[in-house]
Amino acid sequence: DKYVVILAGGIGIKFWPVSRHHKPKQFLDLLGTGRTLLQMTFDRFKNIFEAYQFIVVTNKKYHGLVKEQLPEIPDHQILVEPLRRNTAASIALASYKIKKLNPNAKVLISPSDQLIFNEKAFFEALDLAMEGASQTGNLVTIGIRPNRADTSYGYIQYFHENGNPVKKVKTFTEKPDLSLANTFLESGDFVWNSGTFVWKNESIISAFEEYMPEMAEVFEEGEIYFCTAKEREFLNKAYSLIKNTSIDHGILERSDKVFMVLGDFGWSDLGSWQNLYDISEKDGEKNTIKGKALLYDTENCYIHLPQDKLVVIQGLTDYLISDSNNVLLICKLGEEEKFRNYVTDAKKID
Ligand code: GDD
Ligand code: MG
Repeated sequence: DKYVVILAGGIGIKFWPVSRHHKPKQFLDLLGTGRTLLQMTFDRFKNIFEAYQFIVVTNKKYHGLVKEQLPEIPDHQILVEPLRRNTAASIALASYKIKKLNPNAKVLISPSDQLIFNEKAFFEALDLAMEGASQTGNLVTIGIRPNRADTSYGYIQYFHENGNPVKKVKTFTEKPDLSLANTFLESGDFVWNSGTFVWKNESIISAFEEYMPEMAEVFEEGEIYFCTAKEREFLNKAYSLIKNTSIDHGILERSDKVFMVLGDFGWSDLGSWQNLYDISEKDGEKNTIKGKALLYDTENCYIHLPQDKLVVIQGLTDYLISDSNNVLLICKLGEEEKFRNYVTDAKKID
């Protein structure tokens, strides 16, 4: 049987100030479609998975948001983490839970912060990945052709030779620095890791045992029952012990059983305001306006406002104006690498 695990506990710092610690980007309707990124993720899978096959892993801070946004998912399928320990922990938690439900299950891991433009092509790639994951031990990821030297992704180099669409991965480098990312891009030999994975549950459990034995040990001995007080008690203890590592650093960079299926379905992880601007509808001056704005001599701007605010702007080019009631951010679009500083400094005042 199959499960789909949706990871929904990240903090999405790059959409600050609209994405906040109490409501990160996966819980926002960033595109103005009436559905949040988390809901869009669920919608995408609900045609091929039944409600009982979903597992959502989130932080306790967002438990209420997940319940509110995904009322279709039964309570006991929402796994609540007491602390933020990154994706290795979230995936371990889901995997050890699934082990108790069905030791032979196949699992699809999905982030909750991505856009897929061509769903048909997406599901075709997933089918191939499922196929590749039938072999016990294999960890299969979907790769995306890169178009810029973005340092917020994992980069995968793979063996081209076989005619099989499931390619063996040669190297996996999570979030390289800019010069390395440039080298990867120029070589033409690398794809981005999309963060969507498929494997047999037993394959990932073996990988945890091999590459993250301390984490495996904690969960192996854990009493993971359905959302009981006992389980909460166990998780509080476990999460205070385990390492804060992503699955990419913890396992994918190290394992020699990683495979990749190339996905060509139009993909954006909405990693930044710039990414959102790039895919948004624009007016004649190439401005995207979410809200009410009067613009003069203004072009290439992304403007995001709360409901009843009117903004009047003159003479801006390439700017992000993002107003979230209590914080107004005005900065150059595309300089998101400076975001961390803004957020840290703003917190000191906030
Ligand atoms: N439950 C839970 N707990 N979910 C988490 C946690 C956590 O502690 N941390 C992150 N997540 C969720 C996020 O909400 C997101 O849906 C997904 O896990 C991936 O985490 P990100 O924090 O967004 O990772 P990333 O974007 O920096 O990098 C990953 O995705 C890239 C593609 O978008 C990596 O897999 C990269 O290799 C990949 O290129
Ligand atoms: Mg992400």
